[in-house]
Amino acid sequence: MSKPRTEPRRVLALGATSAIAEATLRLLAERGASFYLVGRNAEKLAAVRDDLVTRGASGAWAHAADLDETAAHPAMLAQAVATLGGIDVALVAHGVLGDQAEAERDYAAAERVLVTNFLSAVSLVTWLANYFEAEKRGTIAVISSVAGDRGRKSNYVYGASKGGLNVFLDGVRNRIDRAGVQVLTIKPGFVATPMTAHLQQNALFAQPGEVARHILGAIGGGKDVVYAPPFWRWIMLVVRSLPERIFKKMNL
Ligand SMILES: NC(=O)c1ccc[n+]([C@@H]2O[C@H](COP(=O)([O-])OP(=O)(O)OC[C@H]3O[C@@H](n4cnc5c(N)ncnc54)[C@H](OP(=O)(O)O)[C@@H]3O)[C@@H](O)[C@H]2O)c1
Repeated sequence: MSKPRTEPRRVLALGATSAIAEATLRLLAERGASFYLVGRNAEKLAAVRDDLVTRGASGAWAHAADLDETAAHPAMLAQAVATLGGIDVALVAHGVLGDQAEAERDYAAAERVLVTNFLSAVSLVTWLANYFEAEKRGTIAVISSVAGDRGRKSNYVYGASKGGLNVFLDGVRNRIDRAGVQVLTIKPGFVATPMTAHLQQNALFAQPGEVARHILGAIGGGKDVVYAPPFWRWIMLVVRSLPERIFKKMNL
């Protein structure tokens, strides 16, 4: 585990309208942080910005953008740095669940999930890694998923997008941790958000506010990887350790 490094005072949120991101930003607003908020729905984004200001944010700017448009990332990120006067923490939160059955029939559907969850995050983190490496400080926190720990028949396209992201973040961390930059991989289990609203809720579901507290605890604690809530670490340890000859016959 790394040492705590960054007080999150100037926060860049990518996918700021996500329920998990919003819950995290609310906690930071209460501490007086300032925000550069990026999301594709301008109306929802403006509502998040106004809410954060009401809760104590010392400043909040909204930038409407579809994050699948990777060519626009460098200018957008440079604008965020200029507006906030530097970034302490970048939270990458956007993502789509996709439709597994459709992705099995049609590669184009699988590609959309991979572009949003993996390639757009790779593009953002590539720029952010170079920015923070030059600064020799800061935090890149990326919301991945426990689904990336092992492919399952019910959601392996989404799982692959997050698994690829995990490996990419491992590599970025191995490169820039030594420059003083925290690279945090966040692995939530089931969270009650719009993304999972169609699923039957059960005892494993967490609320966004609970996940947000684990995210901020991990940033403050200088962690590399956080399961949120933490019991998912043990569930996924079991899931990962099942031999393939048994696992491949299970309905997961
Ligand atoms: N909920 C869970 O059970 C769960 C579990 C593990 C990991 N996660 C991860 O947690 C993160 C946040 O999800 P959430 O649960 O908070 O769900 P959510 O409220 O549905 O948030 C997803 C966000 O991603 C945004 N988004 C999707 N594609 C985008 C694009 N191309 N450009 C810009 N924004 C885009 C959505 O914007 P719109 O509002 O405009 O659609 C939405 O704000 C995701 O990475 C997700 O994979 C969620």
